[in-house]
Amino acid sequence: MHFLQVLVVVAAAAKLVSANPLPQSQFSTFTVPNATTTSTQEPATATSTTVPIPDSNNPCAKITKLYLNATEFYPKVPSDLAWQCLNDVPLDAPAATIWLQSLRPYIEWQSTTAYLKDPPQGYLEPAVDVWAEFDNIVSGISAGRYANEYEFEFALYRLFQGTHDGHFRYMPTLANGIFSFGRPVSLISYSADGYEAPKPYVYEDVLSNFVNGTAKPSAVTQIDGKEAIQFLEEWSQYGSLQDPDALYNNLFYGLAQASLGASGSGPGTFAGGGRGAYIYPGPTTSLTFENGSTHTHDNFARVQVPFRYINNGSDLYLNYVNSPLPSSTASNRLADAIQFSAPATATSPTVYPRPGYPPPVVNSKTFNNVAGYYLDEPGYEDVAVLAVASFVGTSDYQNVVYSFLDQAPKAGKTKLVIDTSANGGGTIMQGYNLFLNLFPGIVPYGATRFRSHEAFNLIGETVSERMFYYPFDYHDPPNWVWNDFAGGVPFNYRADVDVNYTNFDSWQDKNPPSTFMGDDFTSVIRWNLSDPLIYPANQVQPNGYGNRTGLPPTRPFEPENIVILYDGYCASTCAIFSELMTQQIGIKTVSIGGRPNGRHMQTVGGVKGTNNYPWYFISQLVTDTYTLAPDQASFFNTTALYDYIDPDTDWIPYHRAVGNSGQVNVRDGLREGDETQTPLQFIYEAADCRLYYTAEMTVDVTAMWEKVVDVTWNGDSCVVGGISGQGHAQSKRFDEDTSDAVKARAQAKAKRRLQKRRRQMTASRIAAIKQSLDIVTDSRNIQPIQGLMLP
Ligand SMILES: *[C@@H]1O[C@H](CO)[C@@H](O)[C@H](O)[C@H]1NC(C)=O
Ligand SMILES: *[C@@H]1O[C@H](CO)[C@@H](O)[C@H](O)[C@H]1NC(C)=O
Ligand SMILES: *[C@@H]1O[C@H](CO)[C@@H](O)[C@H](O)[C@H]1NC(C)=O
Ligand SMILES: *[C@@H]1O[C@H](CO)[C@@H](O)[C@H](O)[C@H]1NC(C)=O
Ligand SMILES: *[C@@H]1O[C@H](CO)[C@@H](O)[C@H](O)[C@H]1NC(C)=O
Ligand SMILES: *[C@@H]1O[C@H](CO)[C@@H](O)[C@H](O)[C@H]1NC(C)=O
Ligand SMILES: *[C@@H]1O[C@H](CO)[C@@H](O)[C@H](O)[C@H]1NC(C)=O
Ligand SMILES: *[C@@H]1O[C@H](CO)[C@@H](O)[C@H](O)[C@H]1NC(C)=O
Ligand SMILES: *[C@@H]1O[C@H](CO)[C@@H](O)[C@H](O)[C@H]1NC(C)=O
Repeated sequence: MHFLQVLVVVAAAAKLVSANPLPQSQFSTFTVPNATTTSTQEPATATSTTVPIPDSNNPCAKITKLYLNATEFYPKVPSDLAWQCLNDVPLDAPAATIWLQSLRPYIEWQSTTAYLKDPPQGYLEPAVDVWAEFDNIVSGISAGRYANEYEFEFALYRLFQGTHDGHFRYMPTLANGIFSFGRPVSLISYSADGYEAPKPYVYEDVLSNFVNGTAKPSAVTQIDGKEAIQFLEEWSQYGSLQDPDALYNNLFYGLAQASLGASGSGPGTFAGGGRGAYIYPGPTTSLTFENGSTHTHDNFARVQVPFRYINNGSDLYLNYVNSPLPSSTASNRLADAIQFSAPATATSPTVYPRPGYPPPVVNSKTFNNVAGYYLDEPGYEDVAVLAVASFVGTSDYQNVVYSFLDQAPKAGKTKLVIDTSANGGGTIMQGYNLFLNLFPGIVPYGATRFRSHEAFNLIGETVSERMFYYPFDYHDPPNWVWNDFAGGVPFNYRADVDVNYTNFDSWQDKNPPSTFMGDDFTSVIRWNLSDPLIYPANQVQPNGYGNRTGLPPTRPFEPENIVILYDGYCASTCAIFSELMTQQIGIKTVSIGGRPNGRHMQTVGGVKGTNNYPWYFISQLVTDTYTLAPDQASFFNTTALYDYIDPDTDWIPYHRAVGNSGQVNVRDGLREGDETQTPLQFIYEAADCRLYYTAEMTVDVTAMWEKVVDVTWNGDSCVVGGISGQGHAQSKRFDEDTSDAVKARAQAKAKRRLQKRRRQMTASRIAAIKQSLDIVTDSRNIQPIQGLMLP
């Protein structure tokens, strides 16, 4: 198996194996809901004639009844009813205990557990002793600490989520796969003038104000009776990011997130987008405003599985949470689990709308993952913007990047804004490629390392011994299993290069192991970009290597004419790209939004680990190792490898969780010259300049891009920090200005920006934004990729 680096939107719901007596679900033909439409597809068309409609007061039975009569794609039911149904599932303690044991082997691969336990200064989230908390859940089962199955599964989900490592992820079915919660109101946060502390607002109020000139929105001061900012900061902690300002931004609707459709966090975690879907928000949400009024909204839960034949929590458990296996032979069990967890069939990809964005100069053909824009406002005509909302992509993606960076300078653009808003990463080589497209000829540093443990070492030893040459012919390998160890997988010592970009001599050289923080790790490993197996394994050949040598011959932009913009969501491959740009070139950075605290804000707020493995890929690596060395099977059966193939348990982690949810961060990113080898995940990095959103930026991204240009090259001030005058030649001319003059000019520009957007906000543009409020995050239908943080 290898990772096709494609984002596939697929038929939904096939993962949940229907047990007897459930008929095979019609859901297998459903496609992912469309961001352009509020779907009115009938989930249970005509089944009411054949499926009994329960008549009981059990909350699950009530949901079945609502479901059978629903017309929405994911029918909405009252949140408290869903909550009661979840809590109606009795704890299956024996099954829970075995299940937990089956997870241990995968957690071994997580590279950061020693650091999470005792994080270095600068890391802003709480310490987590993963193994101690895991054992605590195990003992909680026998101690009767969990009143029901949901309480236990939610604790398990929270153990992973609480590490704030978006690559360390596991979603038990009952906690994450049956319902997704939400609030019917999206918030945004903006500053009145770009410098005052931002306040939260109801987004629809802001939209109405723009299009209909209705009353100025009144800020939210309290949520459910609690001071609003405090409530929001606490709720934001249910997100997966590692930076509090990034988490805060992720609460709110974001145009860049919406442009990603079902793979983004849409309306924000407060409204139930992204990780917000997994937290019960209570039956209602009451918002109190500055003007003194209070509105109370009914919260909802979306039903994610075909709710038929469910008369109570026990039925739910049996049908969806721990259903009997569809296949009886042990050897097929894991295959079944994998098949049901990985997306099965691809449909043609959907082009999502992109409200709030101008028409692109160049756009990727399918998703809005990367696109190039020119600013048309007088005074900004020399600016090109590359909006990189994701790094997921293959040749089309690479072509967009190449052609935009090729044509922009020819069109007279001398400055480049790279907008990483909403970028959770993607194809690792696209991150390297964008860097190499901007700075051809500079060898990217990109140091990494793996945690060294028994299974990892056995796989590496075996692969290094049995795959005795490298590279090999990908189309005609001596054994097809070899293809799993091509281009970017560390187990053959002949692949990759060391810290000095020279080859390793042996597996021992690559995995001595080295000890840091009391844990074992490999040597520093870097990508060998000349490796011809990078292309077949990744579907991208970075510029300057292989058949892309000489592309492009020169830098399209000078370093001082480039700035990177962050909303904090940047993670994984985006973190890799950011590290190369800021550390190797010294590119300046601007972060926007965050908590209303007037302090510095970090750039990358998502996971900075540089590689995640889905659990089924790990399982595959183990079976490959058995295949490579059949003569060692009886020995392997006495080692840690056996835990991954034990027919009694190997299927359980997949069978009891949502789709592709099991992931671990296997690779740390390391900074050049850092002798302590502290993973970048734990290193604090403030942006050079911090900005706040203003109202017009929440309806039109070009307003934000203009402001970024102003603080980078035109002498405007930041909320904190600054760029102009710090070596950027163009800004020097403002040095003679009095600060009052600079301020007056900035205020005039801000006024113009706002007024222009007021004029431009037609009802149809607002309607497009309003439709995107209905986006449902659907991470179970995103193909896992080795440098992508799933929502
Ligand atoms: C999504 O919406 C567009 C525009 O309405 C439509 O053309 C397309 O067929 C829809 N796709 C799906 C999968 O519903
Ligand atoms: C079923 O839905 C229809 C239309 O939404 C509604 O009028 C009717 O009352 C519903 N029936 C039940 C039993 O909920
Ligand atoms: C603006 O007003 C029209 C007419 O009253 C209404 O239909 C529309 O929903 C309003 N738009 C917003 C964004 O509130
Ligand atoms: C107060 O502000 C809220 C939020 O903008 C708005 O919905 C409401 O209509 C306002 N109430 C009054 C009395 O102005
Ligand atoms: C749940 O409902 C099923 C019928 O669907 C019934 O057989 C079972 O006894 C019920 N369980 C409980 C705990 O009520
Ligand atoms: C890398 O090069 C430096 C400087 O020559 C040397 O000190 C170091 O030992 C080398 N590291 C490895 C792993 O070869
Ligand atoms: C990188 O890969 C190429 C192609 O396989 C190989 O010739 C070279 O020795 C490797 N190492 C370095 C340091 O380039
Ligand atoms: C490089 O090789 C790949 C794989 O053979 C091919 O798909 C691609 O078009 C080639 N690229 C160029 C620039 O020739
Ligand atoms: C290793 O364990 C597997 C699974 O229990 C078993 O099928 C296989 O026969 C064992 N191999 C040897 C050589 O003992």
